[in-house]
Amino acid sequence: MVKICCIGAGYVGGPTMAVIALKCPSIEVAVVDISAARIAAWNGDELPIYEPGLDEVVRQCRGRNLFFSADVERHVSEADIVFVSVNTPTKTRGLGAGKAADLTYWESAARMIADVSKSDKIVVEKSTVPVKTAEAIEKILTHNCNAVNFQVLSNPEFLAEGTAVQDLLRPDRVLIGGRETAAGRKAVDALKDVYARWVPADRIVTTNLWSAELTKLAANAFLAQRISSVNAISALCEATGADVSEVAAAVGMDGRIGPKFLTAGVGFGGSCFQKDILNLVYICERHGLHEPAAYWKQVIEVNDYQKRRFVTRVVSSMFNTVSGKKVAVLGFAFKKDTGDSRETPAIDVCKGLLADGAAVCVYDPQVTEDQIRQDLAAVGEPMRQVGVARDAYEAAGGAHAICILTEWDEFKALDYRRIFDGMQKPAFLFDGRNVVDGGELRRIGFIVYSIGKPLDPWLRGMPAVA
Ligand code: NAI
Repeated sequence: MVKICCIGAGYVGGPTMAVIALKCPSIEVAVVDISAARIAAWNGDELPIYEPGLDEVVRQCRGRNLFFSADVERHVSEADIVFVSVNTPTKTRGLGAGKAADLTYWESAARMIADVSKSDKIVVEKSTVPVKTAEAIEKILTHNCNAVNFQVLSNPEFLAEGTAVQDLLRPDRVLIGGRETAAGRKAVDALKDVYARWVPADRIVTTNLWSAELTKLAANAFLAQRISSVNAISALCEATGADVSEVAAAVGMDGRIGPKFLTAGVGFGGSCFQKDILNLVYICERHGLHEPAAYWKQVIEVNDYQKRRFVTRVVSSMFNTVSGKKVAVLGFAFKKDTGDSRETPAIDVCKGLLADGAAVCVYDPQVTEDQIRQDLAAVGEPMRQVGVARDAYEAAGGAHAICILTEWDEFKALDYRRIFDGMQKPAFLFDGRNVVDGGELRRIGFIVYSIGKPLDPWLRGMPAVA
């Protein structure tokens, strides 16, 4: 029996290993983490992350061939294949601070693997890492442990939060990079055999190590670039009377462009896009490639601009101040169907509104009150102006304005007549995700702002740029 161990029981490690266990009953899969609390949650009734369909997969496999454990060293030492899926955040200090990936967790995992290994192992980079990381990992593994043979593979994960289970069950592609030696090819084949149990052969792509590592950074940069591109166009739509949804739909019908990832909004968030692009920028700079670095940096700058622009719209529309006004924030997660609020645009929007003196009241179906308060406290916001509501109606009660910041389906189906009746007048609705029907809401009486759509007469002529 092949034994797999995954270090890191997070948004990637948990779902990925659950699906491997589901599809490979003859493989024993152990997911380990230094956080005993996270492991306890994986072993409990309430999983530590919300992901549609995940409960069901975990329920089927847990205790059969899927195990969650805090006994990191034992499971690593027993495994044939060790996935490393630890966090790789942006460095906050020292060389490359604010851009480079912080590989502290990765390095400590690699040293531990070297320390406890008594048999040959395939070590798989599942985390997103800078190109050439495998070289450093190989050095750590071989310098610390001479008697054991290690093969390092790059197998970046392309799942999207909110659709992780479906993405894992039917991936567009699985990418495996390895050394171009006999031992390297053998390791690639061993990992390929695991995925081949449910992924069609033509969707399993093998490359050299550096291509696989760089592909993940490139893919995230391309995805984020599409969002910044359509968001840049949304600003021009508002200035000219064009409608960004119409423009994006027609642009996306071009077979060379395609329709996906062309929805304008308040900006991208999540733990990956910003950090991976910053990492790409840093790597370009380290290679003296200043123009490519500046090009990719601009994707982040447009994203920051879009968030600032939204806050300016809110404040300028409401007589140039939100001081003392209640603003209901509907949605805090960085996208729908996840409880993840890492780098969510909601943090920046709330920060901007609080800075102008608003009282914000947040409702999100999945992000906990503790998490919302922790996220806002982390950016220095005092809590006395922050409320957290149990539903959208409570959040909007007595409010001067609503800001929709996550595209949760339930926000499309709210009783906006009831909400309008309970709000201060004029009642404003700022739709940061273009989920509501602006025409219908205007008929109820709202003053509506939808990103990239023709402006309400009320909003015309008001400053729109931060
Ligand atoms: P996460 O923060 O949810 O999980 C990482 C886990 O690793 C944490 O539970 C932490 O306690 C654990 N950990 C850290 N150091 C450890 C060590 N030495 N030994 C044992 N456990 C350790 O992170 P997430 O979101 O799962 O991301 C992991 C990696 O996957 C990152 O590199 C990320 O860029 C990448 N990725 C993330 C995606 C996402 O949608 N979240 C998608 C694709 C890739």
